[in-house]
Amino acid sequence: MQSKVRRRLAHSPVARGAAFPLRTMMVARYDARLIGRSVDWLVHGRETTNFTYDLDPLNRDQLAWFVAAVSGATVGHARGWMDELQRDVALHDHVTERWASNPRRGISEKEPHWARRLGWYALIRAIQPDHVVETGTALGLGSCAIAAALLRNGHGRLTTVDIDPEAGCLIGGIWESVVERRTGRSIDILAGLEAVDMFLHDSLHTYDYETMELSAVGPNLGAHAVILSDNAHQSSALGDWAQRTGRRYLFFAEQPRDHWWRGDGIGAAWTQPSPSSQVGPASS
Ligand SMILES: C[S@@+](CC[C@H](N)C(=O)[O-])C[C@H]1O[C@@H](n2cnc3c(N)ncnc32)[C@H](O)[C@@H]1O
Repeated sequence: MQSKVRRRLAHSPVARGAAFPLRTMMVARYDARLIGRSVDWLVHGRETTNFTYDLDPLNRDQLAWFVAAVSGATVGHARGWMDELQRDVALHDHVTERWASNPRRGISEKEPHWARRLGWYALIRAIQPDHVVETGTALGLGSCAIAAALLRNGHGRLTTVDIDPEAGCLIGGIWESVVERRTGRSIDILAGLEAVDMFLHDSLHTYDYETMELSAVGPNLGAHAVILSDNAHQSSALGDWAQRTGRRYLFFAEQPRDHWWRGDGIGAAWTQPSPSSQVGPASS
């Protein structure tokens, strides 16, 4: 009976007006949740930029599928590698201690939340690169995750570049042993680097600058290099470059858990066939 009335109303000329209260409730519920998260972040959070958070569990699993698609590894291995970083107590404690003694601790989180960096980590475990290059070190949270993956692999090194001479305060301990920090404009430094197996753009996030970085590093990329962008949620620079250079391209969009920020993502470009079609089980 009720559904008959509803159907008649839906087909009537006043349908739009009649649906207004329902639509108002739907959007108000959504906005109230967002405002709740925003207030919680303002009261309990500290960050002013480069926000950190965990991923929604379903989104985390989608990230494992993304890693599998880009690397050719199985999704089971990708999940295992992501868990490996999440459970790395030594790295967690190291970052937490470094953060506590950082002069910018008033505007930094207290503990690491890896989010999309779980994907960077798992890709390095899958692809087994000898040389990873990251532009945009900032505090060094991503550098720590990359270094941890290289140490688990048992080979490989990271060159991380930042224009800020104070960047990289989280890089220390055993993780520092595989990291070379370079200070300067990334496009000036990239041209001089040797065989790069994985490149991550995370510096100046404009279309033109990202494209300049890709052009600068291009001649130094290994045949099966994987190229990542931390700017792909707002720029097509990597996708456009992938098309021009005959590579494949895929984008993973983050869905942060309990955070107002809509999330960033990972853009990935790679050559076919997949750089790693056979990978072994995750080892500790
Ligand atoms: C988004 S943060 C990097 C975040 C970091 N990769 C992480 O995982 O937390 C961007 C960094 O890029 C650096 N940067 C900006 N312009 C740059 C340039 N032209 N060359 C090198 N680094 C630059 C900034 O100083 C800043 O530390």
